[in-house]
Amino acid sequence: MNRDLILVIGASGTVGTELSRLLKEQGHTVRATTSKTVKSTNELAHVNLVTGEGVKDAFEGVDKAFFLSPPGYADQHALLSPLIQEAKRRGLKKVVLMTAMGANAVETSPFRRAEIELEKSGLNYNIIRPNWFLQNFHTFWIQGIQQHNKILLPAGNAKVSFIDARDIAVTAAKLLTSDQHDRRDFDLTGPEAIDHTHVAAELSRVSGRTITYEEISPNDFKNGLLAAGLPKDYAEFMLMIIGFLREGYSARTTTSVKEITGVEPRGVAAYANDYKMNFKK
Ligand SMILES: NC(=O)c1ccc[n+]([C@@H]2O[C@H](COP(=O)([O-])OP(=O)(O)OC[C@H]3O[C@@H](n4cnc5c(N)ncnc54)[C@H](OP(=O)(O)O)[C@@H]3O)[C@@H](O)[C@H]2O)c1
Repeated sequence: MNRDLILVIGASGTVGTELSRLLKEQGHTVRATTSKTVKSTNELAHVNLVTGEGVKDAFEGVDKAFFLSPPGYADQHALLSPLIQEAKRRGLKKVVLMTAMGANAVETSPFRRAEIELEKSGLNYNIIRPNWFLQNFHTFWIQGIQQHNKILLPAGNAKVSFIDARDIAVTAAKLLTSDQHDRRDFDLTGPEAIDHTHVAAELSRVSGRTITYEEISPNDFKNGLLAAGLPKDYAEFMLMIIGFLREGYSARTTTSVKEITGVEPRGVAAYANDYKMNFKK
């Protein structure tokens, strides 16, 4: 088996941590990136996608790469384009780009522009578009759960085929280490479409608390994001995409995870069981 040097953008994040672990387990060398100031080594590179700092150096000796755009920035194309250009310049063997389900609905959206740039780069690539992560419940939405026992979102009664980020990582690892699906894009979902009341019931089951879903207004949602320090354009981006969720556009399920990895993706019950410590008082 070829032992590749694989650049992982966002290696300390929800998907990147698990992806890096899986790639190392398979004997590959991972070059993790961080926007924090660090002394660069073969396995750690300082890359700030906002300023462009470190991008070129991070590719030195790299065979393959995983790209994402960190949350908080609405112009994902501006952050991803320099990475795609550098991958092309270096002739990488493979690039896997993670965007988001629905990113290809509008050809001019920043995420879609990055996808198109990669598609036209001549590189071997995959694009993965995951649906909303289950992990959001113990990260982004945890404050309402901890303080009020409530999932507070403007989601109506819409169903969502939430995906476990660990399944995104398994899928990305497989795509990075195989050429079987080259030049294809995949929408990644969990096994079932469920509403937020169903998620709340699962979190109650594992935590021993009563957690409920309460619908809030889009405006309250946006104000909450702004109060948490998110920039206005990103809060508006989030409002737009949760609007699509509410309209039912996040309910579709796909079989992509199984097709690529051979394993069924995890559902909400497995997520709740595995992360129950996050939901206990
Ligand atoms: N959450 C969802 O439901 C969902 C659904 C679909 C798609 N997505 C997409 O998933 C992506 C986020 O993935 P994730 O949740 O795994 O990430 P995450 O946990 O939010 O982690 C973000 C990563 O980006 C790095 N980072 C932050 N600022 C950076 C900068 N200026 N330059 C370079 N790196 C930076 C962070 O590391 P340092 O702090 O060390 O730099 C960290 O490793 C986004 O593009 C989002 O649109 C999310």
